[in-house]
Amino acid sequence: MCGIVGFVGKKEATPILLEGLRRLEYRGYDSAGVAVYDPERGLQVVKTKGRIQVLADQVAARGGLRGQVGLGHTRWATHGAPSDVNSHPHVSENGRIAVVHNGIIENYAEIKEFLQSTGVHFASETDTEVVAQLLEYYYHGNILDAVTKVIHRIQGAYALGIVCADCPDRLIAARKDSPLILGFGEGFHVLASDVTAVIEHTREVCYLDDGEIAELTADHCWVYDAYLRPVEKERRHVDWEISAAEKGGYEHFMLKEIMEQPKAVRDTISPRIQDGRVVLDGVELTPEYLKNLDKIYIIACGSSYHVGMAAKYTLERMLRKPVEVALASEFRYCDPIVTPHTLALVISQSGETIDTLAGLREARRLGARVLSIVNVVGSTIARESDNVLYTWAGPEIAVATTKAYSTQLAVVDLIALYCAGQMGTVSRAEYDALLAALQAIPEQLETVLERREEIQYLASIYFNHPSVFFIGRNMDYAVGLEGSLKLKEISYLHSEAYAAGELKHGTISLIEPGTLVVAVAGCGHVFEKTMSNVVEVKSRGADVLGVTVDSRREAMGRTVDHVLTVPDTETALLPSLEVVPMQLFAYYVALMHGCDIDKPRNLAKSVTVE
Ligand code: AGP
Repeated sequence: MCGIVGFVGKKEATPILLEGLRRLEYRGYDSAGVAVYDPERGLQVVKTKGRIQVLADQVAARGGLRGQVGLGHTRWATHGAPSDVNSHPHVSENGRIAVVHNGIIENYAEIKEFLQSTGVHFASETDTEVVAQLLEYYYHGNILDAVTKVIHRIQGAYALGIVCADCPDRLIAARKDSPLILGFGEGFHVLASDVTAVIEHTREVCYLDDGEIAELTADHCWVYDAYLRPVEKERRHVDWEISAAEKGGYEHFMLKEIMEQPKAVRDTISPRIQDGRVVLDGVELTPEYLKNLDKIYIIACGSSYHVGMAAKYTLERMLRKPVEVALASEFRYCDPIVTPHTLALVISQSGETIDTLAGLREARRLGARVLSIVNVVGSTIARESDNVLYTWAGPEIAVATTKAYSTQLAVVDLIALYCAGQMGTVSRAEYDALLAALQAIPEQLETVLERREEIQYLASIYFNHPSVFFIGRNMDYAVGLEGSLKLKEISYLHSEAYAAGELKHGTISLIEPGTLVVAVAGCGHVFEKTMSNVVEVKSRGADVLGVTVDSRREAMGRTVDHVLTVPDTETALLPSLEVVPMQLFAYYVALMHGCDIDKPRNLAKSVTVE
């Protein structure tokens, strides 16, 4: 979603803002802009529909923008089409106040009507412009006073960056339900939607909390609550290497991140396995608590939800406790049955997905304990959870998640083993076998990645199929959901995933000669059942690409057109391996279609609006 970067210091702001925006490109955007305060010419704004390079060219065409305080923004359109005029920054009618915003002002229509009745003219169709105009309305010489009045008047989600020409040595920021961080440096301060935008300049950051306002100058940073009472903020050091946010020789971040999976999974599991046992420090899952657990409610969106779908099979089988998996956007409005004995397992790469965050808050409100699986350290979901288990995947830049998905699965497996150990629901022999299999996953991932040329070859055979169905049962179905999402999000091909046994209840009518079916059939106990469904689609003319384990290559090969295999492992761990051919297949198909793989159309990396 929208990206914000701001700079105030003793250097020229524009190059820092443009570079920060480039680093935020991965979040997804359709237009971009900067506002810089030039001591001689006042607030200068350049904004445009299109890529950062278009913006940079326009800035250069004006001979650059001079000034040491400024804001930058990448916009992902919500209110008003992508256009030059709807791009941020938005400026109050008299040009005094510039604003960038991430989020949605839900009551913007009512405020706009009110301001229009006082004679204010609006330039854009955006909800954000009401913030700039409302700030001007409330401004009587003190920008902080105006900001507090505005945040008490607007409803919805916002991360705001503000520059006022009357106090041009400072940036103002405010936040509610949309991420915003402050960065500290020698003689400068920065603000940004996430650390990737500022990591080049500083690793010392703090995270603004809901309702807080920040005031930044080159040398000082003040944080206040919504009533301008001072707030002490804890600074954190960010460990991520800048190289982790660069392509390192790969054509796309997505391929780089696919290839990083063995390391990411190893980094995630190794520190949590000691002396043959899973150790989850700081996680309060005691035998007593687990005994009284009535349900595990998994709350997530997109691929994180697909991890939840796989987790349901593993957790229910190993813990014999009911597991419900909810799309966060549904959970928050479905009046869920949650008690103080419910464990809410919240899964999110970014830790900022607005629906997932709202689901977390709803679960807590209803009394559940919240354990989250999060990749971004210090993100809102991590901070608001009772306990958090971080995935150590490092920064994930490609919109299509790969290594975060794999590390989330690994954490689920650790939780399942840990809880089973606490509850005594699996035998020691089964526990040891699963743990050994989990420890073997990074090496097995390397084996799967070594087979990528075969996957590339199959992608070259199948890339022109306009419609693709993924089928599978049990864990294989969960993997099919993720395979289908990967394919559609980056290659724009129509694709659906079905539980294999469900196909004949309607969807099989869509199968005709030339339809591609990807059949995932690693789970031994349902292999024959899935193969029966494969025969059904084959006999209706479908081309079938099978995915199974090495030991069933021959058995599957007798029925399907092509087979891809992964090393054999415990059923519970199959998704960790099976997903990789799906990721690579989607990647190579998208490549052959010439798609913008790291920044697919209409998508954002971190979905911070409903
Ligand atoms: C997956 O490739 C997508 N980018 C998307 O479905 C993503 O998983 C979803 O938006 C959830 O994001 P989160 O894990 O950051 O909460």
